[in-house]
Amino acid sequence: MSEPITFKRHLRMNTPEKADFFDQTAQGVLSQPLDRPEGKLKVTGTASYADDVHPPETAYGWFVRAPIAKGWVTGLNTAELRAMPGVLAVIRDDRMIMHPAQGQQGKSPPQGPSEVFYAGQPVALVVAETFEQARDAAQAARPELIDRSDKAALKLPLDDYETPKSKQAAQGDLDKAMTEAAFAVDQVYETPSMSHSAMEPHAAVAWWDDGKLTVRGSYQMLKTNVAELADALGISARKVRILAPYVGGGFGGKLGISHEAVGAAIAAQRLGRPVAIALHRRNVYEATHRRSESRQRIRLAAGADGRLAGIGHEAWVSSMFGDSFSEPVTQASPFTYAGENRVIGHHVARLNLTAPGSMRAPGEAIGVPIVELAMDELAQAAGLDPVELRLRNIPDEDPSTGKPFSSNRLEDCLRQGAERFGWADRPEPGARREGEWLIGMGMASAVRVNTLEPSEAAIILLPDGTARVETDMTDIGTGSYAILTQIAAEALGLPVERVTTVLGDSDLPPSSGSGGSFGAASSGSSVLLAAQALRAQLAERMGCDADEMTLKDGQAIAGNRTRALPDLLAGDTLRGEGAIDPGATSQTVRQATWGAQFAEVAVSTVTGEVQLRRLAATFACGRILNPKTARSQCIGGMIFGIGSALTEHVAHDPRDGHFVNRDLAEYHVPANLDVPKIDIAFLPDRDAHANPMQAKGIGELACCGTAGAIVNAIANATGKRFREFPVTLDKVL
Ligand code: MOS
Repeated sequence: MSEPITFKRHLRMNTPEKADFFDQTAQGVLSQPLDRPEGKLKVTGTASYADDVHPPETAYGWFVRAPIAKGWVTGLNTAELRAMPGVLAVIRDDRMIMHPAQGQQGKSPPQGPSEVFYAGQPVALVVAETFEQARDAAQAARPELIDRSDKAALKLPLDDYETPKSKQAAQGDLDKAMTEAAFAVDQVYETPSMSHSAMEPHAAVAWWDDGKLTVRGSYQMLKTNVAELADALGISARKVRILAPYVGGGFGGKLGISHEAVGAAIAAQRLGRPVAIALHRRNVYEATHRRSESRQRIRLAAGADGRLAGIGHEAWVSSMFGDSFSEPVTQASPFTYAGENRVIGHHVARLNLTAPGSMRAPGEAIGVPIVELAMDELAQAAGLDPVELRLRNIPDEDPSTGKPFSSNRLEDCLRQGAERFGWADRPEPGARREGEWLIGMGMASAVRVNTLEPSEAAIILLPDGTARVETDMTDIGTGSYAILTQIAAEALGLPVERVTTVLGDSDLPPSSGSGGSFGAASSGSSVLLAAQALRAQLAERMGCDADEMTLKDGQAIAGNRTRALPDLLAGDTLRGEGAIDPGATSQTVRQATWGAQFAEVAVSTVTGEVQLRRLAATFACGRILNPKTARSQCIGGMIFGIGSALTEHVAHDPRDGHFVNRDLAEYHVPANLDVPKIDIAFLPDRDAHANPMQAKGIGELACCGTAGAIVNAIANATGKRFREFPVTLDKVL
């Protein structure tokens, strides 16, 4: 291959992209339901996940975990363990403890040596010739402990929560609005501690070569993960490479590195051979992130016409000692509904429980459904249809900042969603019965903030007219391989078969990674920019302006001239590099994605069982890059909503906080029989403020609201209110 000639295009989004680039393209593959290019590898078991590849001489690690909630580890029966069959090393190294599951570079708990913060925390690593030998020896470990579990904070009185100033907001006088309201709601709701429960457990295989570390792992954001791992080990990020070609689900639990990455790296360095650590499912639950439990107080003050004069949303959540993250429960409440008087509150308890982190739409996933339960209570009090109550309270601009919305499609989603679902047929509360079953319908708005992150990509256009997309973006099951292939193919006028996409290698151009529903739009924009850099060069070779040239089926067409790409390339290899940066655009507007969710349930008067009959949602989230993967994301998001409403909760043992239910049998993520027919509609939508793709986040939006629609449907069926998630049968009866 000839040395590539490089062309670059860098865009800082300082103004909205009024023109739609894809109006000029002709291939017609974008927004088509392309099958995942890697789909066959996945369903035939040939796609290799983190722990699927073990280099020769790989040794295996297994963690020793703290049996106490608080205290210190002062010693270990190391000599005894070292003498066990196959054992190669017993490692106590606080670098493994300092950075477990934090996912935040440099944000480790302030601690003394081997301090224990929660039951299940990894405190040592046993490495052996085989997986079984490592596990066997680790189970014989007897840590010497200073046990302060009696002083552990497992639950705190509300007065002991921290109230960080930067996270409080108030405007007007909510107390007065509440007193003067024609209809008011003032209720407290609770959501439980939860777990991501990705299908693929956390795993890392590490090896060193000439002072350079390579880790094959299961992570979402490689650029950040490299920095985290380098930071944990105290080495330069240039010496770290992370490979994550396939990720079997992340849901936020793999945004950051966990102790398996640090442990495998330390052990591999010490032994001078590769080390693999695949976490046991129980260890995933106990020692990677969880979602914080929440207590939420909602106040709504409405006039006689149902128009809101005031909203209060205050949340109490927990966090790890020294950690800056806490679940942003109220994230959408400053702008979703109108109301001049507003209180946003955020309170944090430091608990001796596994560190909370981002999980499946952090913030809105548990904040929006709760606001929507309160809105349903208000609708009933005011004698208004719940959809009508929402319609009356859609603000013209962000009511907290006065900034315009880049796009607000809530009204369209509500109206079209209600029509599509058959909302007009909703029964009176407690009034529809079929034998032992009470039937009800409920709805909720869905809203999620939308962001753009810096992202880079390259496209290599080879002399034969085929292209290769390269970026360190990950595909966590969301469809990155498919959409990035489609974007490059569309922009370069190539059939998708002539484009390959290489992801999941931190040596490739650094992308946004997968998180916060910004991945597709951010990494997609960088691929588009790389393609535009190449288009400019191809146009130059055609002797015309880029917008006078059409690229289609591997040919460049300008006026009456047509040339095949190999002819135009004349043996050259071209490399297009694209970089997107969020600029001022996002500062000047309020940007979000919108939806309306509807549920129909049947509730057994005999057992209290809730059966979902159907779910439906209408979403507006910008350009849909691939309707098949977009729909799959929404199905996944809504199933998480079912879990939140009906089945998912972590039970912490009141004595030491450990996860009582720590496997997929006891922590119930909805399975096929829990999931009804799901109807999903996307509104045609563009948002010029979002990014050059005019695409926005999808998957997380879908799990913001679902639980509210379901629990409101249960209230409609039974005539009773449920204010604590999940609504299990014991609560229903
Ligand atoms: Mo997401 S919870 O930012 O992976």
